[in-house]
Amino acid sequence: MNEQQWIAMDEYLCERTQAPDAVLDAALRASSEAGLPSINVAPNQGKLLQMLASLRGARRILELGTLGGYSTIWLARALPADGTLLTLEALEHHADVARRNIARAGLAGVVSVIVGDAVQTLEGFVRDGIPPFDFVFLDADKKGYPEYLRLVLRLSRPGTVIVADNVIRRGQVADTASVDPDVIGVRKFFDLLAENPRLSSTAMQTVGSKGWDGFSISIVSE
Ligand code: SAH
Ligand code: DHB
Ligand code: MG
Repeated sequence: MNEQQWIAMDEYLCERTQAPDAVLDAALRASSEAGLPSINVAPNQGKLLQMLASLRGARRILELGTLGGYSTIWLARALPADGTLLTLEALEHHADVARRNIARAGLAGVVSVIVGDAVQTLEGFVRDGIPPFDFVFLDADKKGYPEYLRLVLRLSRPGTVIVADNVIRRGQVADTASVDPDVIGVRKFFDLLAENPRLSSTAMQTVGSKGWDGFSISIVSE
């Protein structure tokens, strides 16, 4: 098994399960031209996010980590016309690129890109008592995952689905001796999942065009 085979398989799966999509292609091209790193979700993971949000019947979606808005577009497509997606991004440059991509996708009416440190923004949401979210995609800096989870839980309700990206990191997350702050952050995140009786969770490893990584899915109960 090697990475070339994973990529070939991913390409085959995407070709058989997705129609060509000029809007998503344009979003990736514009992101790359603007110098953004290509750390967006893979197309098949993007579609999985859309399908999960759609299965959930999500009307309010929260995303942490916008980058160029690629995953944002997938998620926003699951929303009804009067739905809302708030996506949080630390860097103004990323947010600018994302806003243009989202507008080109015809989703500016449902998506708001909010610039700033996600912790500060989430603390503001909690203070303001905004309505809870139905679906959350956690994909900002990995060392922040424990704090993000604590705050997101205060913005959740029974039935809220929380998906967290990049929780495998080429298997580094299983290394108890790791000193990588991202790995330590993800391990602490899993500790919080494990100890919280309000959360039912699973996690999956993936291989493909984004290497060896994966995601967790949690459902919030009473
Ligand atoms: N969800 C995107 C990829 C996000 S990459 C996609 O799949 O298409 C992670 C993003 O999180 C980067 O744009 C980075 O600038 C942003 N980020 C990092 N630290 C952050 C923080 N503290 N608050 C908000 N965003 C942050
Ligand atoms: C990184 C971030 C991501 O969200 C991702 O999907 C892959 C890599 C990173 O920061 O390296
Ligand atoms: Mg990611």
